[in-house]
Amino acid sequence: MITITIDGREVRTQPGKTIIEAAFENGVYIPHFCWHPALSVSGNCRMCLVEVDGLPKLVVACATLCTDGMVLRVDSERAIAARHAVMEFLLINHPLDCPICDEAGECKLQDYAYRYGPGESRFDEEKVRQPKRVDIGPHVVFDAERCIACSRCIRFCSEILHDPRLTFVGRGDRVAVATFPGVKLENPYSMNIIELCPVGALTSRDFRFKARVWEMSDTPSVCPGCARGCSVHVWVRRNEILRMTPRENRFVNGTWMCDFGRLESWRHAADENRLMKPALRRAGGIVEPVPWDEALPAAAERLRRAAEGRIAVLGSGFDTCEGAYALARFAREVLRTPFIDSIPYFDPEQEDDFLRRADRTPNTTGARLAGVAPADERYGLAAIVEGLERGEFSALVATDSVGGGNGWIDAARERLESVIFIGRNASPLAERADILLPATNFAEENGTYVNFENRLQLLHPALVTKDGDRRTGPFRLSRLDAFATPFDRWGRMPKRDARPLWRILRDLAGTFGIAWGWEHPRDVFAELAHNVPAFRGLAWDAIGPEGVPLGGEASPPIRSYRYSDIRP
Ligand code: SF4
Ligand code: SF4
Ligand code: FES
Repeated sequence: MITITIDGREVRTQPGKTIIEAAFENGVYIPHFCWHPALSVSGNCRMCLVEVDGLPKLVVACATLCTDGMVLRVDSERAIAARHAVMEFLLINHPLDCPICDEAGECKLQDYAYRYGPGESRFDEEKVRQPKRVDIGPHVVFDAERCIACSRCIRFCSEILHDPRLTFVGRGDRVAVATFPGVKLENPYSMNIIELCPVGALTSRDFRFKARVWEMSDTPSVCPGCARGCSVHVWVRRNEILRMTPRENRFVNGTWMCDFGRLESWRHAADENRLMKPALRRAGGIVEPVPWDEALPAAAERLRRAAEGRIAVLGSGFDTCEGAYALARFAREVLRTPFIDSIPYFDPEQEDDFLRRADRTPNTTGARLAGVAPADERYGLAAIVEGLERGEFSALVATDSVGGGNGWIDAARERLESVIFIGRNASPLAERADILLPATNFAEENGTYVNFENRLQLLHPALVTKDGDRRTGPFRLSRLDAFATPFDRWGRMPKRDARPLWRILRDLAGTFGIAWGWEHPRDVFAELAHNVPAFRGLAWDAIGPEGVPLGGEASPPIRSYRYSDIRP
């Protein structure tokens, strides 16, 4: 280790670290545009200039290695004057679009302009005109006038994606990012350049002009799109998800996520086919919405009748660990059936060697570990499907059917007395269910997921349901997001009358005279951590923003420090 002094404070760091890395490790922020910890150093913006004792000129913190005994000043008069000059230079041709720019509120240039900007312009000439609203890819729109030529987007494509589709063309103040003529930025991870871009030059076609950043609340959560379980921010305005962006997790996704996760993985939460209310199938096949206090006893009655025969239970990798644990207990203690398994949902074409996994559910591992797995294959999915087709079961309790294939569902429905569906969205099985009980989804509940590498992460409710979890997570608030009330944007009660799976099953078990004293998912989790070896020793409150590894074995982090592009 070597010792350096930053603004009068001695800190220790490893040889080979740059000044900006050592500063970040020790909680000192150095303004920067072009540097990013996951990319190579380009050193072209000059915003990170700092003063080092004994050197005649200021040095760039992102490209200068620390040496033992180095004494540096981040906020000396000379360093600040240099930042003023850099800002003045960058703002010469910047269009000052802030009032209509999607990046406003989370733009480095805007923030630094407040802090280091000159306040007024000495530039009398015409600003350079550059192309605006260029479609550089299916999901990304480019505004060349806003670009400050930091090259982050170009380096991301070549260094992280190994798909070098972007480059600079032109020189001096005509320089612009471009693709080769006729080629588009089509890559499953293309939208990461939107957050990487420190200004509003690259914006999301999907999110453009939908909301200002300060109108939304931002809830830390986990992407439900695949078994990677990328850490994400869920952005909500008036109880409506407007976008999902990556949240740094050194153990899971670094600072990235895929375009599917960003654009598609959460849509089912707002889809038209979202189950909104409990419902019963009446005589004649008519499905009628009913209140919970009618649906739950009706479900219990059907299960009581079916208990004389055989009951199958199918969980899903979309259930939280708490929901899965409750389902496993319900199957074994209430229904007394060994026939329990989860339905796999795989798409090998989606897998790559970066983030995306063929397993398209976020919690296959957690659900199985929590007990939604057969004791042996005589009771597993294959045996259940075979039994359903042969008419050996009298009832089926399922939390999802996506990925299960539909052939057996038709056969099963004809031969079953009762199908109880406790899910989130309409599906072929839900369409045939006798009782529909809407469960909350990843954006509406507190809970945990375990990714394919055995890392357990927390979900927090970003949306409010009528009678579901209240928003208690560490979300950042916005005044326009009516977070604390369950009303939608027109001031009406939300239509979603969904409840967490563990709570539905607790109440159902109660109708059988079995009392589980859970009031919050943390109670379920505490029991899970007590009873299930894989979770032993874990505590809800000790699950940090980066999650915890099951069994205490952590893969090494990508970096030794956490990096935030958000300015202090
Ligand atoms: Fe940097 Fe954004 Fe310009 Fe790319 S588009 S070079 S990320 S400012
Ligand atoms: Fe979501 Fe998987 Fe994409 Fe990550 S890789 S953003 S978990 S779909
Ligand atoms: Fe160091 Fe850009 S951050 S030169």
